[in-house]
Amino acid sequence: MNTAQFIPKILLEKIEKASFTWQTPSNIALVKYWGKSNPQIPKNASISFTLKNCHTITTIDFSKKETTETAVFELFFEGKEKEEFKPKIAAFFKRVQEYCPYILEYKMSINSENSFPHSSGIASSASGLSAIAMCLMSLEQKLNPNLTQEFIHKKASFLARLGSGSASRSIEGPLVVWGAHPEIAGSSDIFGVQFPYKVHSVFENYQDAILLVDKGEKQVSSTVGHNLMHAHPFAENRFKQANENLSKMSKILQEGDCKAFINLVESEALTLHAMMLTSNPYFILMKPNTLEIIHKIWEFRATQNSNICFTLDAGANVHVLYPQSEQDTVNPFIENVLADYCQKKQYIYDSVGLGAKKL
Ligand code: DP6
Repeated sequence: MNTAQFIPKILLEKIEKASFTWQTPSNIALVKYWGKSNPQIPKNASISFTLKNCHTITTIDFSKKETTETAVFELFFEGKEKEEFKPKIAAFFKRVQEYCPYILEYKMSINSENSFPHSSGIASSASGLSAIAMCLMSLEQKLNPNLTQEFIHKKASFLARLGSGSASRSIEGPLVVWGAHPEIAGSSDIFGVQFPYKVHSVFENYQDAILLVDKGEKQVSSTVGHNLMHAHPFAENRFKQANENLSKMSKILQEGDCKAFINLVESEALTLHAMMLTSNPYFILMKPNTLEIIHKIWEFRATQNSNICFTLDAGANVHVLYPQSEQDTVNPFIENVLADYCQKKQYIYDSVGLGAKKL
C-alpha cells in the first residue's frame, strides 16, 4: 500500500488566511463494509450509491499561527459550538497530520451543517468527514497549485477513510468502490474509486427514499459494530461472500439485471443485520416497523410487478430503492402506506448523486 504518495514533498506557496466551503454527500452501500483492521483497512470491498440530497456543508477558515504538535480547531455545528463532536475530529486530525503536516500551522474554524436532521438516524460521519477532507485538500492545492484533480479526489478519499471508512465513498459519484478487489480496476484498500465500468441506464438516477423508522441515537457505534467482527464465528465467510457479491454486483450494474440487483441488495442488508444478531454481544437493530415495511415492500413488489427493494444501514431506518421510471407508482405507495410506519411519518426522497461540490 503506497501511503507515501500522500505525504506532500514541497509546499510552494505561503498562505496566511484561506477559507473553503464544500458540500459532500452521504452514501448508501449496496455491498456492505462491516469489519476492518488498523488503520481503517476494510476486511472486504464495498460499493455504494452516492446520494444527491443528503449532504453536509462545511466551511473551514484557516488562519496561520505558530506550528504546534497537535491540530488547533474550533467546531460549530449548525451555528453552535459542539464540544461532543470534537474528540472524533481531533482523532481524525491526529491520524491525518502525517499526510497534511500543514494543518499544524493553522488555526481551523470549522462550521458544519447537514441537509438532514441530525437526530434522524442517518449516519453523518460519511458526509461530515468527506467535507473536512475536501477542505483540507483545497488548502493543500493552494499551497501546491500543481496538484491534479485526480490526485485531489484520491487523497481526499484516503483522508476521509482515516476518519470514517464509509466516508472514503463520499467524494465522488454515482457509484464508488472502496477496498481492493481483483475485478475492479484501480480499486484500493486505502481510498475509494469510481466504479470503472459503464453502468446500465436503468441504474441512472436510481431513487432512494429513506424511511425514518427510528430517529434515536445509534444503539451500536460503528467502532463497536466493526469490532464485533473480530471474534465473530462467521466473519471469514462473510468477508469472502461480500467480495463475491461485489463481483456479482459489478456484472448486474453493467447488464441492468434488476431482479438480480434486488436479490443481492436485500441479501446484503439482511446479512449485515445477521452479523449483528449472531455476534457476541448481540444486537437487534431493526424495529418492529422495519419488518413491517420490509413485508409491505415485498407484497407491493409481488402484486405490482415492481422493481422496488430495500437496504438497511446499521440501524432501523429503511432505504427504499427503485428505478426512476417507477416513481409514479412507488411514491404514492411510500406516502400512503409506508409513511405510517415512520416516526412522525417522516421520510426523505433522495436519488443517486455525483459527489463533492465546491461552494
Ligand atoms: C453499516 O463507515 O460508519 O454503514 O469506519 O468505524 O467510521 P467507521 O464505520 P462506518 O461504517 C459503516 C457501515 C455500514 C455499511 C457501509 O456503509 O458500507
